[in-house]
Amino acid sequence: MAEKENLEVSEAQIAVHWQEEAYYYPSPQFIAQANMTDPSIYDRFSLENFPNCYKEYADLLDWYEYWHTTLDTSDAPCFKWFVGGKINASYNCVDRHLAKNRNKTAIHFVPELENEKVEHITYQELWVRVNEMAALLQDFCGLKAGDRVTLHLPMTAELPITMLACARLGVIHSQVFGGFSGKAAADRIVDSKSHVLITIDAYYRGGHLIDHKEKADVSVAEAKKDGQVVDKVLVWQRYPGKYSSPTPMVDGRDYFVNDLLKKYYGVRIDPVKMPAEAPLFLMYTSGTTGKPKGCQHGTGGYLAYVAGTSKYVQDIHPEDVYWCLADIGWITGHSYIVYGPLAICASTVIYEGIPNYPDPGRPWRIAQDLGVNIFHTAPTAIRALRKIGPDEPKKYEYHFKHMTTVGEPIEPEVWKWYHEVVGKGEAIIVDTWWQTETGGFLCSTLPAIKPMKPGSAGPGMPGIHPIIFDEDGKELPAGCGKAGNICIQNPWPGMFQTIWGDRDRFVKQYFERYCKDPKSKDWRDWPYLTGDAAVQAPDGYYRILGRIDDVINVSGHRLGTKELESAALTVTEVAESAVVPVADDIKGKVPDLYVSLKPGYSPSKELEDKIAKALVTEIGPIAKPRKVWIVPDMPKTRSGKIMRRVLGAISNKKDVGDVTTLANPEIVTAIQGMMK
Ligand code: WT7
Repeated sequence: MAEKENLEVSEAQIAVHWQEEAYYYPSPQFIAQANMTDPSIYDRFSLENFPNCYKEYADLLDWYEYWHTTLDTSDAPCFKWFVGGKINASYNCVDRHLAKNRNKTAIHFVPELENEKVEHITYQELWVRVNEMAALLQDFCGLKAGDRVTLHLPMTAELPITMLACARLGVIHSQVFGGFSGKAAADRIVDSKSHVLITIDAYYRGGHLIDHKEKADVSVAEAKKDGQVVDKVLVWQRYPGKYSSPTPMVDGRDYFVNDLLKKYYGVRIDPVKMPAEAPLFLMYTSGTTGKPKGCQHGTGGYLAYVAGTSKYVQDIHPEDVYWCLADIGWITGHSYIVYGPLAICASTVIYEGIPNYPDPGRPWRIAQDLGVNIFHTAPTAIRALRKIGPDEPKKYEYHFKHMTTVGEPIEPEVWKWYHEVVGKGEAIIVDTWWQTETGGFLCSTLPAIKPMKPGSAGPGMPGIHPIIFDEDGKELPAGCGKAGNICIQNPWPGMFQTIWGDRDRFVKQYFERYCKDPKSKDWRDWPYLTGDAAVQAPDGYYRILGRIDDVINVSGHRLGTKELESAALTVTEVAESAVVPVADDIKGKVPDLYVSLKPGYSPSKELEDKIAKALVTEIGPIAKPRKVWIVPDMPKTRSGKIMRRVLGAISNKKDVGDVTTLANPEIVTAIQGMMK
């Protein structure tokens, strides 16, 4: 009996203490203009109508040959979508818009330096540049459909141009986040077996022109050690015609793209008619352990899914100006800066630099100047902007109709600031939950149909049918308010096809746990394990509690770290918070709480007590932190995620490991110093 009780409490249930928040409703003005206002979409995309419902998304695209089979499950769980179809992603994102929108801006490139001119690239110009780059890749590099190319590019227009040039040829691109090291790029070059590396000489970040070319030399050398020879390094120039890096070019290996392009002036390349299921790109994602996994995304299914979700969730219309402040080096940028928006002929903004350069008013000046009306970013950026410039948005004349939050659970306090201050109370918010692996959104509200609820991602997307399992594979009753492992019952077109070169790992990591019959060819036997913990409220909305490992077991109660962090953020002075488990002889684990403060506040014993009390009040005595550490800043990855692993090591007096890849490695020593 005791054993059973123990199982039920510690394995199957995660204690959930956040209060459900009240709904916020979209304005009549928003609804009046929205792309999707018909609630019957949920019926059309119900499980009974699966998989044929997805024809609706596929029909947003132009096909050379229409497909005959919506979903082929013969190699489950490697599912194939729209089989028999022939399509080209570059054609769909560029060529097909020329007839009506040749002169429309496809990409607004905003350099970090404010005195540099914004580049407005029309669809015509994009078409010309993509064609000439494709000619270069084909002729000079000898690349053809199915070859892989590694891109290590920062946020400039040359990145989507290169991606679309690859897509035009059916060449599989693998873009590595520009902030990653040469060594990280090398690992991905080796895994994907790329012979060509495409990079840039330099780019701006935080006001400095950073030498990027030096990383390419490291990449080539490191890849060689692992047996992968890169024979050509193509170097874009941040200032065409001028070399902005002190690192020498290597004769016979390194080439300036802008020099080579002269030879291809005026050359046009017919888009290659690719099978729908041909891979479009690889996006590496790092697990907590092991080497990075190359998530392989297909062409037809992926493009249909991101086009559909850009239209219905992002609500992008031809006349909108859309800005997703993410990096194209992550999946968000691939799906919702490049492929989704361009497939539906949007104007998409690409900003080179960091949001707070030269000051925290910058994003709002960009929005004001370009007339941005759809804004998309992550809680980490929202928290940072709230911390350093809480009153900045007011000073600028911009108006968003729509905003997105993505990447981690957003604390209701932060959501409300986003809504009231950034959105000026006018914009709707979608909280989109998804992953590198999933290609596009899994849960979100459809903005004109479902109300918003702060801190909650909303229901499954039309055609996405989540299910929550407990540890034993038992399904939790819908809307029961208990937490478990959230899975998706059905495949969907945007889902990755496999891990590049490692089908076994793909099956093991994402399907093995809840698959009843590994030989089954029926999709119903292959629920997709997301690795996140979630709870479904009675209204059908899902609240994501974080990765399955992101829970702290205090005296047999599993507390979601996010809930504790959110409680800390109810204290006015607190800007950011992070909770880590510390080993405790009696309670198993106790939480240590790290916070940073908004400007104008300073640390004190009183404040520590006030914050600790907030956790007790919001959640209960069980959540009382062992210690509240008020720190000057959080250790963060280059993409802005707080490194809880590092804080955990500090709290547990363990080795922090390699912190050189952090955005701010110096903070680690500073925090360690405080503990003495
Ligand atoms: C993990 C995926 C989604 C593209 C960028 C990140 C967390 C993502 C949300 C959200 C709560 C979220 C999950 C997920 N996550 N969006 N709206 N609410 N959590 O892609 O690097 O593959 O990370 O980010 O834990 O599993 P990623």
